[in-house]
Amino acid sequence: MCGIVGYLGKREAFPILIAGLKRLEYRGYDSAGVALLSSGKDLRVYKEKGKVANLEQLVAGRDLSGTIGIAHTRWATHGEPSEVNAHPHLSQSGRLALVHNGIIENYSALRESLREKGFTFRSSTDTEVLVQLIEYIQQKYSTDLPSAVRISLNKIVGAYAIAVIDREEPDMIVAARKSSPLVVGIGEDNKEFFIASDASPIADYTSQMVYLDDGEIVTIRRGKPIQVINLNNETIDPKIEQVEMDFGKMQKGDFPHFMLKEIFDQPDCIEDCMRGRLLTSKKRIVLSALQLHHKELVEAKRITIISCGTSWHAGLIGKQLLESYCRIPVNVEYASEFRYSNPVIGKGDVVIAISQSGETADTLAAIQLAKEKGAYIFGIVNAVGSSIARAASMGTYIHVGPEIGVASTKAFTGQVTVLTLLSLAIGRERGTIDPETYQQIVTELANIPDKIRKVLKSNEHIEEISKMFTYAKNFIYLGRGYNYPVALEGALKLKEISYIHAEGYPAAEMKHGPIALIDADMPVVCIATDKTLYPKTVSNIQEIKARHGHIIAIVPEGDVTIHKIADDVIEVPETLTCLTPLLSTIPLQLLAYHIAVRKDLNVDQPRNLAKSVTVE
Ligand code: F6R
Repeated sequence: MCGIVGYLGKREAFPILIAGLKRLEYRGYDSAGVALLSSGKDLRVYKEKGKVANLEQLVAGRDLSGTIGIAHTRWATHGEPSEVNAHPHLSQSGRLALVHNGIIENYSALRESLREKGFTFRSSTDTEVLVQLIEYIQQKYSTDLPSAVRISLNKIVGAYAIAVIDREEPDMIVAARKSSPLVVGIGEDNKEFFIASDASPIADYTSQMVYLDDGEIVTIRRGKPIQVINLNNETIDPKIEQVEMDFGKMQKGDFPHFMLKEIFDQPDCIEDCMRGRLLTSKKRIVLSALQLHHKELVEAKRITIISCGTSWHAGLIGKQLLESYCRIPVNVEYASEFRYSNPVIGKGDVVIAISQSGETADTLAAIQLAKEKGAYIFGIVNAVGSSIARAASMGTYIHVGPEIGVASTKAFTGQVTVLTLLSLAIGRERGTIDPETYQQIVTELANIPDKIRKVLKSNEHIEEISKMFTYAKNFIYLGRGYNYPVALEGALKLKEISYIHAEGYPAAEMKHGPIALIDADMPVVCIATDKTLYPKTVSNIQEIKARHGHIIAIVPEGDVTIHKIADDVIEVPETLTCLTPLLSTIPLQLLAYHIAVRKDLNVDQPRNLAKSVTVE
């Protein structure tokens, strides 16, 4: 996690850096800091605990001049969130300032060795070790900054995106990456340069960007083309890409929070996601990825889905869709477990990696492992140009636009939509889905955005229900079949933003243990939108009622039976069983949102979390 920004050019750096940090705050918001430099002046560093807004308050009235600067917004790994642990970190002599996103795994040994050489440390971060090491190398070999950075990075074990500036070489920024993202923006005629953890802080100024690859180091010098080398000091030709961003989707508009806006955006997002892929007039699905990589996908003997968190929940729904309609066996693995599990995987295997950010370190590492073993990687990603999108052999963007709220909402429904399209398209090619079912699902998919619009009309009703649960300590979410992963997702949403302990279970598993938890103080959210499993779910609800649990039921429109049993009922329009997750998820997102708002919590930036998990 953590976000880094840098600027070298003709304008004042500070406003560009602060605006950039605000765009990257989703990556972490424990502390923020900036280092500014201009010829003939000292290197100035300002940092503060908490959000970027706190840093802005701190610097009021201070000297903020300088046309070169680096800045950082932190998600703490080593060392508590505090001013001293905030980045940028300075070297011993105060000559170098460095910002870092990632983890230096061998920092402890390096710190001891530098201590023996007379270096002292102010912070408890891993990052400070790197800036001291670079200064030590500079002194020992009397070398310039780019060489000192390269030599130092060869001694580092771990993940990094860094940017360094040097008081003694004031017209230069050196930046590098390994396993953490870094983008360089190039202004007109090489007159100005930008660096950032993603393209969003840069896209206002230039569309010419270079995504650094692992192990690459870039040297930015005023007025000169950028120079890229790798850790072996070989010159790399930078690949300049044209990147455009739609900032309209990054505004809250009239909504009080990004999360609520993103929940309400879902009908449009799903339409965007299906555009050009779901051809309603022809009642067909066309996926260019499938046309281009037909053999790998259609002839797959086995599929492994790797992802984390909400994306893992989407993967569980994907498994049911792929197995039902393509008759291909599917495993769904946590990327963090897969990467250390010595998996039986190799040539002929298809691995589907699902990620909103496209930067999740565990998912990326799992992809590398599967790739090394010869598997074919298919990415389902939201962030265009992200590391996972680029690491995959082929893939499909979900096209739901930037997701700013830390709790994932529209990305989940976008991922489920793409998995549905993919399953139907592969199933049709394999002949494992009967044409009538295919037509039925394709026709109904086109109705889903409008049905979500209808679910969103329950917002006030859900807000009303939420009032009762501000003081709840626990919640249970139950679902079956396609809605079991929805129960997991509902529980995760509540945990993340309202800090209420919540667990999701397959409804029938209750009686194998968790039913012991049920009493009058236990709210139980029961998802009963799946017509085929409806009678079974009703029995499960009865079991909870008999133990006085407080039942909040998500039911199909016009339901009568559950209305008579449940304490609170939220209706969603009827749809085909395989599409119910796209509707039943929405009330759960709204319920979590309203409970958190009632508790007066920071919905968009919940404590301890960050949007992009670039550390393992
Ligand atoms: C939950 C949430 C996280 C992410 C997880 C994976 O609301 O946002 O659980 O789903 O960190 O992130 P991506 O999808 O970016 O790989």
